[in-house]
Parts: sequence; structure tokens; C-alpha cells
Amino acid sequence: MKIISIVNQKGGVGKTTTAINLSAHLAKSQKVLLIDLDSQGNATSGLGFIRSDINFSSFDFFQTNLDNNHQLYLKTNVAKLYLTPSSLDLVNLDLNLSYVDKREYLLKNSLMKIESNFDLIIFDCPPSLGLITINALTASNYVLIPVQAEYYALEGLTQLLQTIASVQNNFNADLDILGVILTMYDKRTTLAKDVKNEIKTFFDKKLFKTVIPRNIRLAEAPSHGLTIEQYDRWSRGAKAYRNLTKELMAIIDS
Ligand SMILES: Nc1ncnc2c1ncn2[C@@H]1O[C@H](COP(=O)(O)OP(=O)(O)O)[C@@H](O)[C@H]1O
Ligand SMILES: [Mg+2]
Repeated sequence: MKIISIVNQKGGVGKTTTAINLSAHLAKSQKVLLIDLDSQGNATSGLGFIRSDINFSSFDFFQTNLDNNHQLYLKTNVAKLYLTPSSLDLVNLDLNLSYVDKREYLLKNSLMKIESNFDLIIFDCPPSLGLITINALTASNYVLIPVQAEYYALEGLTQLLQTIASVQNNFNADLDILGVILTMYDKRTTLAKDVKNEIKTFFDKKLFKTVIPRNIRLAEAPSHGLTIEQYDRWSRGAKAYRNLTKELMAIIDS
């Protein structure tokens, strides 16, 4: 069993799009649980669920007295892909847990109850480096960093790397950077190429060869509650996420 956190404290860089489509592809060969940790719930709605219909959420993982019969995930319309939806309660989590002992390990401890049911768990993290993201990183084997190909792409990455290093030193020595994936890439612009070169210099081998193009089909799919493979498998976005999945599996399996 492997656990991957998808992290970038910037919003709108493609974390959720990557979480949904990567999870769906990986579920072709294994049993995958996608855990929505963002109070905005885009991964939940993107897979076609309405939060008000569901009476449990990823917030429950942060409770210490979770009983064994508590439901923690749903079956999605993708075979072998399961989802833990998010809820608005997550907004106040940092504050509510500020006096709790070992609060960085709550998620990791709760996962022990269910991890034997899955081959892979993926966290879609919120746009912050607060306690929710720290919990995800503490529970993970890998962190995957989507970076949008735009001006100031590198801004914030130093802080993200510091947070990862701090989690490695204090809570989870096994945490590895899986790689950086460039998203919303427009190969016609010099800006996109410049950003790619800059990231390549900074991350070297950790930059995935696959880049995710800017593709309107990727932005449309979640409003239909569909993955890109279900919505338009011939699109460039679908092809890119297939390639990313192959590249990523080669690293995880090696
Ligand atoms: N490759 C892409 N091409 C076009 N639109 C994209 C692409 N990736 C994401 N989007 C859109 O950009 C917005 C932000 O993406 P999202 O995955 O929600 O980012 P994050 O989870 O980091 O906030 C969403 O509206 C999404 O549909
Ligand atoms: Mg998101």
C-alpha cells in the first residue's frame, strides 16, 4: 500500500484535476481511495457527488475516537475507485486541534483502520500548508507537486520544500518527493517554455517528462461529474493524464 499527497499551497494550479484523473487511471490496475481534504470539495463534486447528501467526510479521520463501523468512503462510478468526500468542517480544523497532542498524526492513525482495503491512497490537499496538509504529508510515502506554467510559478515552492523537509525531519522520515508535474501548459507561448526550463533547472530529474496541456475538456469534465477518460478519452488532456500515470507507476513500482 502506498500513499500520495498532491500538494501546492497555491490554489488553481491543477491539484484536484490531477487528483481525480490520476486516481481514475491508477484504478484501472488497483484499488484506489481518493481522499478529498479540501473544504471546497472540488474532488467530491468533480466525481459527481453532492455533499449535502452524505453524512460523513474526511473530517472524521481527524477524530481520535472513530468507531470501527463508521463509514469512511463511497464507491464512485469508476470501477475500483473510492472516495472520501470533504466537508466544510475542515475549515476550522487548524483552530480546533491547536491544543491536541500529536495532532500531526491524526490522519495517519485513522488510516490504519482502512488501509488494508486499498492498494493506493491519494490525498487531494487544500491550498495551504496548515495542519491538514501536514497530516497528509505525515501519512504519505510520496508528495506530488503540480505547478502551473505561468509567471511566478516558482514562487512559494521554496516554502513548500521547507515544509516537506520539516515533515521529513519531525514526523515522517519516509516521505519522498515523487515529482513535479507542470500543468496548464501552452506550448505555443515562450513564457510556458521559460517556466519549464526554470523548473527543470530547479528540480532536475524530479520534473515529470509528461506535461499537462491547457485543455478545455479537462475544465469541463468535473461539471458533468466525470473523469476526463469518461468525458472525452480522445482529448489531449486525457492522453496527458494517461502518460503521467505510466510515468508515475514506473517510479512507484521500482
Ligand atoms: N490542464 C488544464 N487545462 C484547462 N483547465 C484546467 C486544467 N487543469 C485544471 N484546470 C481548471 O483550472 C481550475 C483550477 O484547477 P484545479 O484542479 O481545481 O486546481 P487546484 O485544485 O490546485 O485549486 C479548475 O477550474 C480546473 O477545471
Ligand atoms: Mg483543489
